Amino acid sequence: MDEETKLSRKTVLKAALAAGVAAPVALIGGPALARTNAAGGTAPELTPSCHDGDEPTIEQTEGPYFKPNSPERTSLVTPGTQGTRLTVTGYVFGRACLPVNRALLDFWQADVNGAYDNTGYTFRGHQYTNAQGAFTLSTIVPGLYPGRTRHIHVKVQAPGRPILTTQLYFPNEPRNNTDTIFDARLLMTVRDNGSAKEAAFDFVLDVPQTPTSTSNPPTSSTTGGPTSTPPGDTSWAAGTAYAAGARVTYGGRAYVCLQAHTAQAGWEPPAVPALWRAA
Ligand SMILES: [Fe+2]
Repeated sequence: MDEETKLSRKTVLKAALAAGVAAPVALIGGPALARTNAAGGTAPELTPSCHDGDEPTIEQTEGPYFKPNSPERTSLVTPGTQGTRLTVTGYVFGRACLPVNRALLDFWQADVNGAYDNTGYTFRGHQYTNAQGAFTLSTIVPGLYPGRTRHIHVKVQAPGRPILTTQLYFPNEPRNNTDTIFDARLLMTVRDNGSAKEAAFDFVLDVPQTPTSTSNPPTSSTTGGPTSTPPGDTSWAAGTAYAAGARVTYGGRAYVCLQAHTAQAGWEPPAVPALWRAA
């Protein structure tokens, strides 16, 4: 159907984009890091790209602490705010992998001690994506509270469309293994920047889009069959415990494991850039 055509086209466009970049690993395995470099003026801005997962960002429970009417602001910190400074950047895309302008993002999270402000609006704020579909949130690394791993809550809504309620997670958190709500598909990529941390996550909303005429149509050179499997690699399989550095193939591509985990359905390498990078 049309939807499948769009999705396969998106994948092909992504592949074509990767093929034209000198360092495809930076694009496929770590687009967030590439963008972060760009923000620092050390690398050119890359064209935003969806995950290869081809699926909208999954929903998660709202939890008990959402409050409507948060203030509009991109920074949830003040000079006196305690906690490790965290900047979350990313894009909001629709199903055709095009950016969504003026998408609403409403974030809320715990403070450094794991407490939510249920009387005021500390660590609560909403903002809108720009014309490139980009957003930036300045906050702190949320504290832990009983029963949950570290997370940030968010509601995302394209103009006039249903609200996506979900949560974002941090790699290498011990509680990721025991939190029954945790889902690796919602892992941010996170890296240190001095005493602060920089995270990234791209949302894909279930919003129909018509690819623009400026998108290059797939060509025969980018629609060939899958590449051959490099010798020595094994196929990705749910239920397998992978160590950091493990190599697998999936969909004809090779990937390297970034952090130890036990694979689950839905955590295929292209869908979870925080767990796998293209080899
Ligand atoms: Fe929470």
